[in-house]
Amino acid sequence: MEQNLVKVKVWDIPTRVFHWGMLCSLAGLWWTADAGEMEWHQILAYGLMVLIGVRLIWGIIGSETARFSHFVRSPKTVINYLAQTKRDGISASVGHNPVGGYMVVTLITLVCVQLVTGLFATDEIFTEGPLYSLVSSDTASWLTWLHKKNFDLILILAAVHVLAVGIHMIKGDKILGAMFSGYKKLPESKVAAINADELAFASVIKAVVIAAVIGALVVNYLMLPVIDML
Ligand code: HEM
Ligand code: HEM
Repeated sequence: MEQNLVKVKVWDIPTRVFHWGMLCSLAGLWWTADAGEMEWHQILAYGLMVLIGVRLIWGIIGSETARFSHFVRSPKTVINYLAQTKRDGISASVGHNPVGGYMVVTLITLVCVQLVTGLFATDEIFTEGPLYSLVSSDTASWLTWLHKKNFDLILILAAVHVLAVGIHMIKGDKILGAMFSGYKKLPESKVAAINADELAFASVIKAVVIAAVIGALVVNYLMLPVIDML
């Protein structure tokens, strides 16, 4: 039976800014590494570090749909979700679905690994990450190798992620528009079953304050020394 659809806000501004900001940063990091623009590579990486830092904290004290506790579900929930999807087809979720939640955690973890390994990486010519001298040259070479291989993994998983988004779109679950607008259209019956706490949104000002604190530290200790070299 056709059901009326109701427009519901699911993603707050910080989550959306994080997602599209991260996508643009990753594209820029890839390009700068290929073009050998290593100062810009580092500056962009530090910008992404601020985005990731805010997202990790937002995953604990941010809006409900952005919290890890909301979308990192038990294996049993994942199995039930898969069985239900097999039976009834793909349907819209409030926030990430139980499978998507694990992909989100994986992608964020890989980007963190990329940032941390970058801090120790060297191109053996002009550029060294700021923590390079803390480790032996063998360890730095290994971390540089990991920095390269991990990026390949990010590209592969990002492709799987985009494919999954495409499949949801084809099946009528318009998740792409939601990552831009923040709103999803959900069937009335699903909206009626939503617990009010599930759609509690934290103040954007809180995210701005967190970003300002992390930003000030990153700019002062990491970004300014690179800008001085430009
Ligand atoms: C053109 C490329 C991309 C598109 C169209 C896209 C689209 C989306 C969409 C629609 C969602 C929401 C999924 C849902 O409703 O559950 C999402 C979430 C997410 N995507 Fe992407 N994505 C792209 C690239 C990437 C890349 C390159 C990464 C990182 C490597 C990434 C990481 C994430 C993460 C971490 C989330 C969860 C957001 C959060 O909760 O903060 N995406 N993406
Ligand atoms: C998430 C953030 C980052 C991404 C996506 C990224 C991406 C990349 C990519 C794609 C390469 C080229 C790999 C190859 O040649 O196959 C690269 C190289 C490199 N990156 Fe990053 N990077 C990030 C963060 C950083 C950071 C924070 C630093 C240091 C401050 C850094 C320093 C380097 C150096 C020194 C190389 C050169 C390695 C070489 O040419 O031998 N990266 N990065």
